[in-house]
Amino acid sequence: MKGIILSGGAGTRLHPVTLPVSKQLLPVYDKPMIYYPLSVLMLAGITDILLISTPRDLPHFERLLGDGSALGISIDYAVQETPRGLADAFVVGADHVGDDSVALILGDNIFHGPRFSELLRTNASDVDGCVLFGYPVTDPHRYGVGETDRAGNLVSIEEKPARPRSNKAITGLYLYDNDVVDIAKNISPSARGELEITDVNRVYLERGKAKLVELGRGFAWLDTGTHDSLLQAGQYVQTLEHRQGVRIACIEEIALRMGYIDAPACHALGAALAKTGYGQYLMAVAAEHDRAA
Ligand code: G1P
Repeated sequence: MKGIILSGGAGTRLHPVTLPVSKQLLPVYDKPMIYYPLSVLMLAGITDILLISTPRDLPHFERLLGDGSALGISIDYAVQETPRGLADAFVVGADHVGDDSVALILGDNIFHGPRFSELLRTNASDVDGCVLFGYPVTDPHRYGVGETDRAGNLVSIEEKPARPRSNKAITGLYLYDNDVVDIAKNISPSARGELEITDVNRVYLERGKAKLVELGRGFAWLDTGTHDSLLQAGQYVQTLEHRQGVRIACIEEIALRMGYIDAPACHALGAALAKTGYGQYLMAVAAEHDRAA
């Protein structure tokens, strides 16, 4: 399965902070926001990733993440000239997807929860249709909303409905079979001129091939769209990291644990950041990994 991170958008709700810099490069506590969605793809076992961003911001992501080889993965880059909607990721990324299945994650989505890697890997293997992830929220009108029947089957999907039929937001992580490229190329732009991901998902729903996996109560899907929610997301990460002494969305640690890099490589990545707690953590994780091996 291939991966795509969509990291465009003007971040207008975070102005003036996002006037000179991409929202997805802002810190969520101790690391750039983009580390969080990247970590999700890595935990799913995906190592061939395309990052799509604006002409202005793409070079910054490249400077941060390079070609991915330091993490034992491959990261390519593609420009989205104008914001044409989330589903445009499959038009821009058609060559990257090739004849494979694909996971799309939005660059500002933060997930954290128990056995997430397992859940991702189970759902990512042999995708037939699409797999969406639902999360209960108090403000569903701000999101795509999924409605299920008693048996848990998805029966409707609506984008930002004024009167939501459920409290289940559809999160910004989507798994698709290869049909998604054709579907995205053939849907019509919405009233605001964009290729909506919800319209893609509705095609799968009409074909009886859309599955909703509900992320339970023990899960966190955090919003980063406003100054307050961004700060709260950072505080959530800070609280857990201080309490447990582990780091959330630490891409170098994940690369080590997933077997993409070895302990000396992880140690070297830490040594390059030795002045920071983040770097010291990486060196400690590498040493611990060596001891356990
Ligand atoms: C987009 C999708 C929406 C989804 C949300 C998740 O909305 O259109 O269906 O629930 O991402 O983050 P946006 O954040 O672009 O308004």
